[in-house]
Amino acid sequence: MDLQQFLMCLSLCTAFALSKPTEKKDRVHHEPQLSDKVHNDAQSFDYDHDAFLGAEEAKSFDQLTPEESKERLGMIVDKIDADKDGFVTEGELKSWIKHAQKKYIYDNVESQWQEFDMNQDGLISWDEYRNVTYGTYLDDPDPDDGFNYKQMMVRDERRFKMADKDGDLIATKEEFTAFLHPEEYDYMKDIVVQETMEDIDKNADGFIDLEEYIGDMYSHDGNADEPEWVKTEREQFVEFRDKNRDGKMDKEETKDWILPSDYDHAEAEARHLVYESDQNKDGKLTKEEIVDKYDLFVGSQATDFGEALVRHDEF
Ligand SMILES: *[C@@H]1O[C@H](CO)[C@@H](O)[C@H](O)[C@H]1NC(C)=O
Repeated sequence: MDLQQFLMCLSLCTAFALSKPTEKKDRVHHEPQLSDKVHNDAQSFDYDHDAFLGAEEAKSFDQLTPEESKERLGMIVDKIDADKDGFVTEGELKSWIKHAQKKYIYDNVESQWQEFDMNQDGLISWDEYRNVTYGTYLDDPDPDDGFNYKQMMVRDERRFKMADKDGDLIATKEEFTAFLHPEEYDYMKDIVVQETMEDIDKNADGFIDLEEYIGDMYSHDGNADEPEWVKTEREQFVEFRDKNRDGKMDKEETKDWILPSDYDHAEAEARHLVYESDQNKDGKLTKEEIVDKYDLFVGSQATDFGEALVRHDEF
């Protein structure tokens, strides 16, 4: 298969991937978690490191000596202090954490950019995207591989237009990022909900009923009994998803389900980091205060002693 087909397959294959009947098929929900580690500072600061640096970057610090870690942290502090007043505020820290968390998204867009920007003008037009992604289909509109390219293309175009704020059908890097990762952008939330509903709402009545909800995560395995987690999901639907208890989820209820927004993890972490390192309790941090508590913010060989032992055993 060539690259175009592969790209299409990336989205399709995840959508159509068959799962074992008793295994839960997970829709991509936007869980704004900062780390998959447990947040227990009595044991380790791993969660804080992931939150502050992003999980990938956090790993790279674990190889450094404490001196090197402090030095790099000092350089980061200069970047966090956006207004250059010599203090890092809770707000600046929160923005930094949000940026660090999105780094993998920026990297992902960067890695795809060259391929779509055919004329290398630093912008990606809908025509460029369509030609690269659907060129094969457009040349041969009736391929025999069972995929509905037409429908996918219509859907992509709709999403592209939504991401393209100024309506010129040409995406800047920011707009293209919103196109590829709509769940990260407030102004794309409605289309994320719409696409999700179209996927699940098999009878196309504009609502997700209980059977459609279950059908999206579980395919019946002949006459086998429903596993326990499916029963739990049924209860979840009735108790929490279908808030107005009319037996089905409307747009708002679907939005609450896939894009929960009740808790700002970045803000909570920023507050926590300030609280833990603000020695003179003036509500903001100096570079010295941060570097003094460097092991809270970043790892190093010293704080990574246990892991180093494990790594040593492996070789
Ligand atoms: C897209 O493909 C069509 C048909 O081959 C061509 O006419 C058009 O110029 C292409 N557009 C871009 C931006 O490459």
